[in-house]
Amino acid sequence: MRLVKSLITGVSAAVLLSSCGAGGDDQGTEYAPNMYHSVAYEPYSQITDEDAGRWVTSIDYPTSVEGGEGHAEYYNSNRFNPHRMNMREPAPNTVKRNAQGWLPYRLPNDSTGLRLASRLKNPLDSTAEVVAAGKALYEMYCDHCHGPKGEGNGKVAEGVEVDGTKKGNYNGVPNYKSDALKKITEGHIFHVITYGKNLMWPHGSQISPEDRWKIAKYVKTLQK
Ligand code: HEC
Repeated sequence: MRLVKSLITGVSAAVLLSSCGAGGDDQGTEYAPNMYHSVAYEPYSQITDEDAGRWVTSIDYPTSVEGGEGHAEYYNSNRFNPHRMNMREPAPNTVKRNAQGWLPYRLPNDSTGLRLASRLKNPLDSTAEVVAAGKALYEMYCDHCHGPKGEGNGKVAEGVEVDGTKKGNYNGVPNYKSDALKKITEGHIFHVITYGKNLMWPHGSQISPEDRWKIAKYVKTLQK
């Protein structure tokens, strides 16, 4: 009995230890490896070798099964698509929309773009909801430079005063109510948020087009 027990313990320990050899490119001995290593379905790169991974499992897809083509585990190509790709290429001239369904903003980042942008109409209505959302976004992205009332006196613009001298201040933030900016349109503001202007950095990558239009609406209310 003792002998049997120690034999069982010894053999189990040997099996366990032998599977601990993982390191570098060697993943050691694995039980049911296809449970950890799922077959990657790459949209544009396929495994067209019908025998790839046949040793891994007994699963294969015989022609007798519906949809089966007689290939093994790793084969992952779609024979109905061009070049056996899993994903079809979009039709020519397809334009990608963002998650909210908006088309990309296409006016260029130059003076002509800015001039044309100022004629754009805000696609959002001036509802209390839109303005409130614009305010919340303004407080997140603009307030620290432009100030709560758009007077150019945000915390970042002002910096801090150390021993009577201003330090770390971000100069040149204008007052939205100044003569130069009084007449700017919501399209102009949208364009400036998107690309920035002179000393102001662009925010196009952080703020979605829809949110930029909301902020533009709110900035106009600050000018009143
Ligand atoms: C890091 C500070 C900073 C942040 C953040 C910032 N701005 Fe500005 N903004 C500036 C400065 C500086 C200018 C002056 C640009 C220049 O040199 O003409 C400016 C100019 C502007 C102008 C006037 C553009 C013109 O035609 O002269 C508008 C409108 C504006 N910002 C809106 C916004 C909005 C909306 C946000 C938030 C999404 C924002 N800014 C975030 C610093 C900032």
